[in-house]
Amino acid sequence: MIEVRNLAKYYGSVRAVDNVSFTIEEGEVVGFLGPNGAGKTTTLRVLTCYQPATSGSAKVAGHDVFTESMAVRREVGYLPESVPLYPEMRVREYLHFRGKLRGLDRPRRNAAIARVSERCWLPDVINRPISQLSKGFRQRVGLADALLHNPRVLIMDEPTIGLDPAQIRETRSLIRELAQEHTVLLSSHILPEVEVTCRRIIIIHRGKIVASGTPAELRQRITAGSQLIAELKGPEAEVTAGIRKLDGVKDVHSEPADGWTRVTVSARHDLREAIYKLSAEKGWPLRELRRDVATLEDFFVKIVAGAHQSEG
Ligand SMILES: Nc1ncnc2c1ncn2[C@@H]1O[C@H](COP(=O)(O)OP(=O)(O)O)[C@@H](O)[C@H]1O
Ligand SMILES: [Mg+2]
Repeated sequence: MIEVRNLAKYYGSVRAVDNVSFTIEEGEVVGFLGPNGAGKTTTLRVLTCYQPATSGSAKVAGHDVFTESMAVRREVGYLPESVPLYPEMRVREYLHFRGKLRGLDRPRRNAAIARVSERCWLPDVINRPISQLSKGFRQRVGLADALLHNPRVLIMDEPTIGLDPAQIRETRSLIRELAQEHTVLLSSHILPEVEVTCRRIIIIHRGKIVASGTPAELRQRITAGSQLIAELKGPEAEVTAGIRKLDGVKDVHSEPADGWTRVTVSARHDLREAIYKLSAEKGWPLRELRRDVATLEDFFVKIVAGAHQSEG
């Protein structure tokens, strides 16, 4: 449904998107994940024909975004990061205005507005001025607008950014519903965000795709890189030596911490139980034992470093 080949976009000398390729099948729900400045918005804007790429190609629903932009726009609903709304208009009025721009006549607009307002949980506010709506409702108006022409593909840029926790939960369940009827590509800079809504995640960093997989696969790669932190009360040399002997240990660092020994352990698997048993066996009190799960940023850095190593 979406086919991107060797896409690149430069802003002057800034390389925002660098030779990106990926494919999204019909019916998939894919998260485009990356830190700020990774190139997410730029890629989505190329796919929605809002701006041209510097090189490469992209097709949506079989149509080329460069040469058949009108056909692409018919197939795609786009929710940009900040939805440009007209605050003085009422919701229904705004949706009529947008429907007219899309060339829908009045009967078709009425039918479409009834459908999308139901779909996006808007009936209660349909006659309210947009200026009176909360950010969560404005987001839904933006979504309703994106769905007016009943596109097969829905592209959303950071759809939950700036929403409060209750609004985030609502938007997530709305996205899950929409995902049953549309092919969905959404971007986020937060891992849990794409984890809960998407069945596949593509990670982009500095304009390049650095990893992709199911949320479970990526989560596993992240926790596999995590470290264990423990504080035991015992002679530093003995504590370190004892931990070093545990099965699966790759590396141990130790430092004294006001009479205790603080160790940072990297290992092939979770050693918390083994460390607890060691402390009980040796009679070394244990006051801290936790897994320091790598942050997404650590994960990016690691993946990117790994990519450089395998290139070299
Ligand atoms: N209109 C623009 N002019 C110049 N540089 C831009 C423009 N838009 C984005 N960039 C740069 O391109 C890179 C990617 O930006 P963007 O696609 O917005 O990333 P993301 O959406 O992942 O945060 C960043 O380095 C950003 O500063
Ligand atoms: Mg962005």
